[in-house]
Amino acid sequence: MAGTRSEGEDERITPCIAGCKDPALGEILRATAMAALAAGRVLRSLYDKPHRITHKGTIDLVTEADVASEQTVLAMLREAGGGIGFLAEESHSSYEDLPHGPVWVIDPLDGTTNFAHGFPFFAVSIAYAEGTASKVGVVYAPMQDELFCACQGGGAWLNGSPMHVSGTSSLQDSLLATGFPYAIEQEVEGVMAPLTRLVTRCQGVRRAGAAALDLAYLACGRTDGFWEINLKPWDTAAAMLLVSEAGGRLTTYDGKGYTPYVPEVVASNGKIHAELVGQLADFTRGERVKNEK
Ligand code: IPD
Ligand code: CA
Ligand code: CA
Repeated sequence: MAGTRSEGEDERITPCIAGCKDPALGEILRATAMAALAAGRVLRSLYDKPHRITHKGTIDLVTEADVASEQTVLAMLREAGGGIGFLAEESHSSYEDLPHGPVWVIDPLDGTTNFAHGFPFFAVSIAYAEGTASKVGVVYAPMQDELFCACQGGGAWLNGSPMHVSGTSSLQDSLLATGFPYAIEQEVEGVMAPLTRLVTRCQGVRRAGAAALDLAYLACGRTDGFWEINLKPWDTAAAMLLVSEAGGRLTTYDGKGYTPYVPEVVASNGKIHAELVGQLADFTRGERVKNEK
């Protein structure tokens, strides 16, 4: 039964499961969170060891930990539920056609560059979605031992306590975050123009290198807004639900509806959203782009 703790289960999961209005989603959240915690243990165990690094692009790395974490998640989720598809960064990364049915969307290590350099800001991100709509989202930051989870309509939680976006009501008083795509050489203008615009209109801009965690930090009120281009579905599918269930808002740069399959996102605590979109709308990419890396 949803809300009843199973043996050996991390007690931080229980309130989040209990918050799920649909007991079936509660069970999915249980499996998702257990998989994220297990994968996080794998990342923690490999963090201090020498890494085997291969390259997807000039600065786009894959380590042994990305692969080991993904294998852990896939094995646990396969056991947990049949009939649910997989979109997973390292082994099931094609989304030529947008998903229609139930799908797990997995980033086994968001923040690979940080991990490879021993910078402890990275996370496991897993969403359960139906089509493009996320129903369950879990982000786990192993080095801080922080478990963020959300269930559609059931609120959002950090380490078992309800979490909410900040109350900051003006851009001028806000702390923002952003990120840069790996294809930065082709995107210098697309990255720098919005940054130049926003950096003088807030209290600070952070660029910490893990989009799922950037959004999780927004969801729990540590920052007030976030924007980035060319993120992939596995970067945002879980954390977008954290933000919306914590009371925040996500759109495109020009204020249109966001799904993890569009190439730009602006997220905020809601209160500064109009101001943020007011600054970013000039830089919208408009067209939906699929499977761009
Ligand atoms: C990356 C991180 C980074 C963002 C990149 C992503 P990865 O994910 O989220 O913050 O700026 O665009 O690709 O490759 O570390 O999983
Ligand atoms: Ca990622
Ligand atoms: Ca990744």
